[in-house]
Amino acid sequence: RGKHVGCFQDSKKARLLANMAKSFPKENSVKHCILTCLRGGYEYAGVEWGVECYCSETFKQPEAISLSDNLCNTPCSGDRSIMCGGYNAISIYTTGAGSRKYSYPSLVDPSSLPSNLPKAHIVFVLTLNGRALRQVMRLIKALYHRDHYILIHVDARQEYLFRELSHITANYSNIRMVPYRYATIWGGANLTTMLLKCMEFLFSLTSWKWDFFVNLSESDYPIRPVEQLIAFLTMNRGLNFLRSHGKDTLRFIQKQGLERTFIQCDNHMWRIGERKLPHGIRIDGGSDWVALNRDFCEYLLTSNDRMISGLREYWKYTLLPGESYWHTVLQNSRFCGSFGNNNLHVVNWIRRKGCKCQYKAIVDWCGCSPNDFVAGDMQKIMVRFCLFAFIKINAMIYRNLHEKKKVIFFARKFEAVVNQEIVNEVDAFLYGSYPQDTPGLTSYWENVYTWQDRKIKLSDIDRTFYNTFARGSLSYLSQWSGDVHCSMHLLDISEVTIFKQADMFQGLLVKFIAEQSTSRTAHVLESLLQYRPMLQLHGTGEAVSRLKNIEVGTTFDVKEEMFKNVGNQIGPHSSFTVALYWSSGPVMEVTISVIDPAQVVATSFAININNNEYAVPLVMDFERPLRPGIWTVKVQHNWNIIAELHFLVSPYSHYGGRPITDSEAKMLHRGPDGKYEKDKPQFDIGASLELDDPQLAASVAMRNSLMAGVQLLEWIDDLTFKFWTVGELCSVGSILPCPGIQLCNITTWSSLSPDPKSQLGRVNPETGRMR
Ligand code: UDX
Repeated sequence: RGKHVGCFQDSKKARLLANMAKSFPKENSVKHCILTCLRGGYEYAGVEWGVECYCSETFKQPEAISLSDNLCNTPCSGDRSIMCGGYNAISIYTTGAGSRKYSYPSLVDPSSLPSNLPKAHIVFVLTLNGRALRQVMRLIKALYHRDHYILIHVDARQEYLFRELSHITANYSNIRMVPYRYATIWGGANLTTMLLKCMEFLFSLTSWKWDFFVNLSESDYPIRPVEQLIAFLTMNRGLNFLRSHGKDTLRFIQKQGLERTFIQCDNHMWRIGERKLPHGIRIDGGSDWVALNRDFCEYLLTSNDRMISGLREYWKYTLLPGESYWHTVLQNSRFCGSFGNNNLHVVNWIRRKGCKCQYKAIVDWCGCSPNDFVAGDMQKIMVRFCLFAFIKINAMIYRNLHEKKKVIFFARKFEAVVNQEIVNEVDAFLYGSYPQDTPGLTSYWENVYTWQDRKIKLSDIDRTFYNTFARGSLSYLSQWSGDVHCSMHLLDISEVTIFKQADMFQGLLVKFIAEQSTSRTAHVLESLLQYRPMLQLHGTGEAVSRLKNIEVGTTFDVKEEMFKNVGNQIGPHSSFTVALYWSSGPVMEVTISVIDPAQVVATSFAININNNEYAVPLVMDFERPLRPGIWTVKVQHNWNIIAELHFLVSPYSHYGGRPITDSEAKMLHRGPDGKYEKDKPQFDIGASLELDDPQLAASVAMRNSLMAGVQLLEWIDDLTFKFWTVGELCSVGSILPCPGIQLCNITTWSSLSPDPKSQLGRVNPETGRMR
């Protein structure tokens, strides 16, 4: 095996040692010396080198990787010809960013383009996930241009988004859905496979004449009009735009897990072991948002260089492959001189929030994610533009702040379900404000269920809630109108949508089919269900004034510090999160207790709240089934109760996708067999918690657990409507003979009301745009 023989600040000494090895007589069996550039980079002060010499013939270049096309190993350059032991060429294992000078072209004024210069054509490749259809529509609308193309890949698991987009985009010849679909998990190896397949598909569309391949996701948004991007790419046709991490390649390699083999299987990236990086290859990487020119894309697909096939094979087992695959291929190919070090993006990195190992259920690694931009962040985005103008006049700063030389066309991330105001601001900045009276400007709708979903099965607890909501809406309708024509019974649930206005959750919209009792005709209705949080704050002390809110739900987003899926419901088999929100203030200790409907203290523990703590999410992974009924979270400070929140763990009305049987109800509603937390000692702090009479509560819970049939449904409805109220109803398509029920398409909260900002419209014949 080889022996590491030295580390050097510069290549000279390393080379000297390699040369010494070269002069060793053959008997000494020095077969290879590997000159290793340990650290390096354009901005890095020194370059460290290492030399590894190998005495056996067993050490070999990885077969798959040839150096024939590897013309670009400039940083540790010239050394490939050094012979060692008269036997073999020294391989240079270059990890440094090297001394390559990147190109930083500046913005191009579209009006300055010579009229006879053919404009570059762009294909925007949207790789989409989730259900944020309306935000995606806005994105398409903002990007769309008659002379350019949009290709859409939707994660194979997202049938709703795929179905809706296929339908909506069918009328546009320059928008296509990718027919090959991959389950592109976060950081998954098949993200590059999918993009390569997109390229392949694009080359098969012979009528699409594109020059640049630009990938974007559902959470990107343009921040400059598309004409500016066209002008910029027209003047830089020869470049490829990718962002390199820039400084410390070794650290990049470690952070990315590039020295580990990952295998994507069952929608998970399994880390199966360590591996060696390919020798002779300069590793590079950074952002996976790129603009690649057609020649390079063609080369990626058609080159018969073994380096390309080798790297492609190698990157099939790589985490977050898009963050290094394009960069590494480009740096080691004849395209190396075309590296425009810019991903054309401003990305909202807030590491302390975005690096919380939040993907560990999907990848065996701690990856980071950028945060969403929210209202007030316009300044952050604008600073990049302004700095650009500023540094242009100040050559000195221009040189030093390489970061600020970025020419930016896109920003990420935006999620309208988190904050739509910022999307409205960016959109208005880009193409001007919509008229004030435009309907739905501050409204946001996101579908969470539709009857057409086949692969994503509705959970029993969601089915239970949605049925209760619809039943409650029908009883509201008949009671409120008092009219026999308004008496209906529920047939089925068709859709559920989250509705927000001015970024505040307004309620869940439940669309359902009901049959009128007298005429026996079926009608589709939509109902607005509003949530009433039951939070009480007690006293006036310092602790109470710091505590802003408590929420309980099932899907807390640790990065955005909020429950995104506000409609998510809790049932006997849920694990849930208690989130406490604080304002800044002195450090303090509080005790959190969670109490079930039988007044059993499921858990109780103390936590410290630091000065600047904002959201404190506490995951409650109890033994199940949880006892259904009204639960309570109590927060104590110095043993005084400062806050209590009631929340609902609903019994099931449905189980296994059908109405629950009597025996199932008895089994599932009885609570856990033992303690909620098996292995944890429990302290009796019951007295300070001011519990209700535990004996009485236990006997009521026991009685409730035996409920079945109509009685069970009444109990569920009674519990649910302690927390939810029916706001209003509207009718889809047909006018109901019930007073006050108007058509949904003229009801401002309805998912069917007009939403021009998210509707693809007519193409403006003058500008070629939709927006
Ligand atoms: C960030 C970086 O921008 C990215 O470079 C890196 O790969 C991961 O971290 P992040 O915001 O965390 O990205 O990822 P996200 O935008 O959620 O997903 C990246 C891409 O994968 C998107 O195009 C998204 O649509 C797709 N994706 C993600 C899926 O198709 N399915 C999923 O389940 C998750």
